[in-house]
Formats: sequence, C-alpha cells, structure tokens
Amino acid sequence: MAPPLAEARGLVCAGGEASRLEELTRVTNKHLLPVGRWPMIYYPLELMQRCGIREVLIVTGQQHAGDFIDLLGDGRIAERSGGAALFDLELTYRVQTRSGGIAEVIGMAEAFADSRKLVVCLGDNVFEFAETEAVRRFVESGSGGQIFVKEVPDPERFGVVAYGEHGEVVDIVEKAGTVDRRYERPPSNDAVVGLYCYSADVFDIVRRLTPSSRGELEITDINRAYAERSAITVSRVSGWWRDAGTHEALARISALVNRTGANKVRVDAAEPGDRT
Ligand code: G1P
Repeated sequence: MAPPLAEARGLVCAGGEASRLEELTRVTNKHLLPVGRWPMIYYPLELMQRCGIREVLIVTGQQHAGDFIDLLGDGRIAERSGGAALFDLELTYRVQTRSGGIAEVIGMAEAFADSRKLVVCLGDNVFEFAETEAVRRFVESGSGGQIFVKEVPDPERFGVVAYGEHGEVVDIVEKAGTVDRRYERPPSNDAVVGLYCYSADVFDIVRRLTPSSRGELEITDINRAYAERSAITVSRVSGWWRDAGTHEALARISALVNRTGANKVRVDAAEPGDRT
C-alpha cells in the first residue's frame, strides 16, 4: 500500500439516478452494481488507496445511502473469505438530496477537505492504471487544477479539451452541442475523464458557478475557470478508461477488468504527455 498522502483528501461522487440503466437501478444505486468481481464503487476507492489517500468522503443520494454504509462501513474492509485487508480507508458520508451536479458535490466537501488538496473520482469511472504518479505529484507540489484526458471516438458524450495552436488549453467544453451550445461539435476528441485534483481554492470557484443548460453546476465549469487563469495541468491516461453509464459499458468494463485488471500501478515512474 502506498504511504499516506496526509496533505490530501479524497471525494467519490456516487449520486445520480442512473435512469439509463433502467431495471438495474430500480432498487439500488448504480455504484453498487457489479463490475467484474466487485461492486463498482470499490474501484474509485481502490484508486484512492493506491494513490495513498486514506480519508475519503462519499457523496450519494438519499435513497440508497444506507446500502453504502452496509457495504463499506467505516472503510476498513477485509475479504469475505477472511484474511487479507481489501481497504484500510477512513470513510465519511454525505447525502445529496437533489441532482445539483458534480460541482455541487465538490462544494459539499469543503469542510471535509479542511483547506487540503482534494482528489475527486467519479464513482462510475474505472481505470486500468490508478494514475498514482500524476496524483501524487499534484498533491506534493501542484497548484490549481489537474485533469486527465483520454482520446475517444464519441467526444460529444463528455467534457472535452479545446487546444490552441501550441497545444495549450484554451477551453473546456461540456457535451458540445447539447449542454454547451457555444460549440456545435466537440473541439477535440480528448475527453476529460472522471479524475480531478484541486487545490483548496476550488471552493471559491464553486461558489461563483451558475447552473448550466441542464440545470446543474458543472465540473467542466470549474476546470474552465482554472484554464482561464492558465492554472490547469492536463495528463493523458495511458491505459483504458471507461464510464459505466450504460448496459453495454457495464458489460465491457467487466470483461476489461477480468482481462487486464484495474487500478494498476505503473512500475516506471515516468508520466508521459503532461502539459499545462
Ligand atoms: C461527467 C462530466 C464530464 C466527464 C464525464 C466522465 O459527465 O460532466 O465532463 O467527461 O463525467 O465520465 P456526466 O456523467 O455528468 O454526464
């Protein structure tokens, strides 16, 4: 297990109604559904642990909040077969009572973060590599915001980065053409994935946000605020990355996890492709 990064706290966003999953989410929360051999939420928790972050806040909706506590307790979980510890985390829970967006969830973490840096993972995002080096580097010496990107064939489904002539970040755009109507189509194929690192000034940014066209406070608007002051670092995800929002995605992620494993830690420390 990685040595603890006492300077950072983690946030896993596990709310939402997941209506696209239809019958599967009638009586449970999406993040409790199986992916490979685990409930989905184990993956972002494992990512936090691999990055050395022990104190993690889980924000979920009211309807199934009790199930998260049943499953995860205080964050110290041993394998059911006995023996090995799966998680040695310190979990805190908060309930989001309406669909106010991911940036609203981040705002709910202010007291928990207690002026420390915050590492945010969306509860339905699964990564082949835990991106430990980039996260640790940000926590130890970074400032502003750190986002991660992955080239995708369907960028209209995501937040994407718009680059200038010299590869600099000029804008960040949420679901071009639908949520962000300034653009008819996505300005690049680089999707912003659901892993973000922020310095403590993120809460000042959240306080200034206004709801998007879908009525939510957007995490993309936080990232754009950092981009506008040239305070965002972009790191490229090297392995596979998926968000588990649909039936097809759920099935494919399970197959991927079974084949390659998830949240692996790279043996070489070099992190290719970082830019500001
Ligand atoms: C959210 C973010 C989006 C990001 C995506 C990654 O989308 O708003 O910028 O690319 O997660 O999974 P949502 O799940 O809210 O549609």
